[in-house]
Amino acid sequence: MSEEKTTYMPGAHLDIAKMPGHWLLARMGKRVLRPGGLELTRKMLDALAIDSADHVVEFAPGLGVTARLTLARQPASYTAIERDEAAAASVRSFLTDARYRCLVGNAEETGLEDASATVVYGEAMLTMHTPGQKARIVREAYRILQPGGRYGIHELGLTPDDLSEATKDAILRDLSAAIHVGARPLTSSEWRAVLEAEGFQVRAEFTAPMHLLEPKRMIQDEGLGRALRIFFNILRTPAARQRVLAMRRVFRTYQDHLMAISLVAVKPEAI
Ligand SMILES: C[S@@+](CC[C@H](N)C(=O)[O-])C[C@H]1O[C@@H](n2cnc3c(N)ncnc32)[C@H](O)[C@@H]1O
Repeated sequence: MSEEKTTYMPGAHLDIAKMPGHWLLARMGKRVLRPGGLELTRKMLDALAIDSADHVVEFAPGLGVTARLTLARQPASYTAIERDEAAAASVRSFLTDARYRCLVGNAEETGLEDASATVVYGEAMLTMHTPGQKARIVREAYRILQPGGRYGIHELGLTPDDLSEATKDAILRDLSAAIHVGARPLTSSEWRAVLEAEGFQVRAEFTAPMHLLEPKRMIQDEGLGRALRIFFNILRTPAARQRVLAMRRVFRTYQDHLMAISLVAVKPEAI
């Protein structure tokens, strides 16, 4: 049994048949829980260009995979806002510098000071929220950023931009039923509009296939040894196997219309 499973496992008390898909995958040993995998994360981080002068805020770090990549850039400060206590504890377990912290809280209302960050980012966390919550989270990012600050998102996308409402509704329904979380992915234009509505200017966009549960991506993201352990854990847990196969079935059914998308935007300088 892996260390994080025994020590800091979000959703450990939940029933496998009903728990959110991301915590089910985490229980099986998966650590990378965002749709575009590490490759898209790296593109986002490169575009955010975090360096030692930056004050970074991460929304919803989950098990902290991106946090480690960010900390390798030695920012001036790093604050994560994570609503799940066990996930926050798992991030805290590797934060050894007093300038780096993980708070349990809600990205809609972080309690952080106005203009206290130069970089804010969050992955696989806006998609699961309603339009109103998405707007509040993006507004909060805007509020805590200094003018000129950068905001990165990495979420589930829909393609093409003119996808019919009927297909969008079917994807939303099937996806939410499979992952047991209300998933509301958006097209590229819709994601841009969510950011622009709060005042951001989008500067970069990256996309990747939605291959979260495809073997090649699992090996790329987790390494061969861990990927094999995850496969083994899924195989020997019938309830989990059923759920993971159902999730993969939905991802494959809609593979032509699902994608991972990352946008990097800036808060304009004050005029
Ligand atoms: C799908 S996981 C993604 C975790 C991580 N960002 C990753 O990509 O691997 C979603 C995460 O968002 C967190 N979360 C969701 N809504 C949140 C909110 N409003 N504020 C803070 N954390 C939130 C959950 O607790 C969970 O850790």
